[in-house]
Amino acid sequence: PGPRSLLYEGILLPALVHSAESLRYAQLGFQVRDRDVFSVTYPKSGTTWMQELLTLIHSDGDPRLARSVPSWERVPWLEQTTAAGFLENRPCPRLISSHLPCGLFPTSFHGSDAKVIYTVRNPKDICVSLYYYSKMASFLEFQEDFGEFVELFSAGKVLFGSWFQHVKGWLGLRDRLNFLLLTYEEMHQDLRGSVERICRFLGKPLDVRALDGVVENASFQAMKQNKMCNYSLVPENIMDQRISPFLRKGGRGAVPLPGSRGRCGGAASYPSLASPSRGRCGGLPEPHHSLLPAGVPGDWKGHFTVVQSQAFDRLYREQMQDVGVRFPWD
Ligand code: PPS
Repeated sequence: PGPRSLLYEGILLPALVHSAESLRYAQLGFQVRDRDVFSVTYPKSGTTWMQELLTLIHSDGDPRLARSVPSWERVPWLEQTTAAGFLENRPCPRLISSHLPCGLFPTSFHGSDAKVIYTVRNPKDICVSLYYYSKMASFLEFQEDFGEFVELFSAGKVLFGSWFQHVKGWLGLRDRLNFLLLTYEEMHQDLRGSVERICRFLGKPLDVRALDGVVENASFQAMKQNKMCNYSLVPENIMDQRISPFLRKGGRGAVPLPGSRGRCGGAASYPSLASPSRGRCGGLPEPHHSLLPAGVPGDWKGHFTVVQSQAFDRLYREQMQDVGVRFPWD
């Protein structure tokens, strides 16, 4: 692992907020309660969105809690060093986030009635989102050349390991009654319908006004303005949002026009990008050349070359052929 990473059971993790002890605590020490609700995601798949949705659902659409307490305290990460402090004495139902692969999840989860919502996103869009996140977050390893970054992502040499292993591991639980599979793309297409599915799964019906409150306050625009979830509370030396905002596109794909240099470093169609320095183009606005209708996921189309995309598709077919689930991007 690089200097910013920790290797635990073959999985890379950011060392800033994880330790071997925090991982062992999550897996072996943490006592799952039957009323716990877990939001599990591979990074950049909609974690923050689900933190907001779960908070708002449990507040009956009232945004006061979501606007006054940081998301990482409301729906804390199980595997981070702060987990015990946030979770041990919390009343039920506890809302908990986790990026852990299924094999490293608390042993006390199995056999409990605790619920897991697993949100999956198109891995190519995750790769792009993670690329920009690695660029703006000083606690992550960063590879400026996007083509090389795609290779690292494809090989699972990024935080929380291989997307394929993560998804396949968790999909093994999909027939359980306490497991809900959602996609970022369906949330994007029909947020209200997705909230209704989550509410049914949680056994927490909401009236129309509460539902309106959830949908309104969990929109991309509302979340971008909420400093309790847009990560603007995090100091710039840790997350520099001038380089790339945490809530970056929200699935609104943008394709640089031919001849435009787009955003530095990002577009694989510009292989000669020189300096590997972080923050070289801090402060530049997002490109505005959206050739996709607003709101359609698919940012990867402006970043992967045809060759990179085809190579990834081959790997995807190899890895996912026996999974037996069709995703919106398949
Ligand atoms: S992390 O670091 O793993 O917690 O990141 P995560 O929250 O999983 O993923 C960040 C991406 O989710 C997008 N996002 C949203 N999209 C649409 N609507 C809403 N409300 C929303 N909230 C977060 C966020 O913009 C990141 O995606 P990209 O593609 O980088 O914009």
